[in-house]
Amino acid sequence: MLNSEQLAFFKHNGYLIIRGGLDAQLCAEAQDRMWQELPADSLLKRHDPATHVGPFRQQEESFSSLHLRSGYRWQQRQFGTEQLMIDLVFNPTLCGIAEQLLGANTLRTPVVGGTPMGTVGPAWPGGPVDPAMGTEGVRGIYCTLPYGDKPREPDACHTDGHPFNLGIVGLLSDVPADGGAFKVWPGSHRRLYPTFSMMYDQPRIPYYDHLPTHKGILHTPEYCAEIVCLLEDTTPTDCWGNAGDVVLWHHRLAHMAGHNYSDVMRQAVLYDFCKTDLDVARTIPPDNDMWRDWSEALQEAGTDYSADISADQNLTKLCQ
Ligand SMILES: [Fe+2]
Repeated sequence: MLNSEQLAFFKHNGYLIIRGGLDAQLCAEAQDRMWQELPADSLLKRHDPATHVGPFRQQEESFSSLHLRSGYRWQQRQFGTEQLMIDLVFNPTLCGIAEQLLGANTLRTPVVGGTPMGTVGPAWPGGPVDPAMGTEGVRGIYCTLPYGDKPREPDACHTDGHPFNLGIVGLLSDVPADGGAFKVWPGSHRRLYPTFSMMYDQPRIPYYDHLPTHKGILHTPEYCAEIVCLLEDTTPTDCWGNAGDVVLWHHRLAHMAGHNYSDVMRQAVLYDFCKTDLDVARTIPPDNDMWRDWSEALQEAGTDYSADISADQNLTKLCQ
């Protein structure tokens, strides 16, 4: 269970790294499962890291919403409701922590054998997959291939548009600094939360075949302005770590899948903890108390935490 310093850190910064939050054996089995899905004649060879450098060759690309291989991204969702994947993330440690943050007996339970993310295809032709659409398990295993000699590029942060309460990104293998682990903008949840028109959801512009220019999520001007400020005034945290380390993150936290300038593939499992009352709460405007749906323990958490916990959390610069 989290101590008072960890609760304070999460409340202030919007994220918390749990070292060893995933079982090591299950991480290894999840990697086995992931590699099983790669075509046998692929140029990527599991035990030859030199072959993992991206991008995917054109003949190896797949644009299936259940199994994407494109550029430097390898995203597998088709096994997201198998027992192994649900045991991996919906484990007693992480469920206990999620309940400590969100309240006891409040979590929606994933469905073994249910529909995985991507089952209903992309949000529009050629578009992204909505992580909430028909998803009854984990989002999937998301890999970022090493960039090799790709030129460095700037960071760009976003928030996720679909309703959920608490996200997790769990590392299945060791990821070094600058290796494409989850990157977060500390404190951004407190600045972005009031800029939304709905507490957990967002208005969307429908996609029409004959009117294809405008589609997808509609952001408020306040949100767009705050994202620009965040990129200028906040130093992001690179949540690198070892196999089994898990990042918990607030649903309005700005983040990105980091660029992978290392020589190893970033392999991570993504899951969204949702409360059973999310359908009621999702369209309510943001509350004056942004912690109204969180546990009493979190509501009452202070703001003090030590330099030791900041170091353990990869935090390089304190945020206001
Ligand atoms: Fe995202």
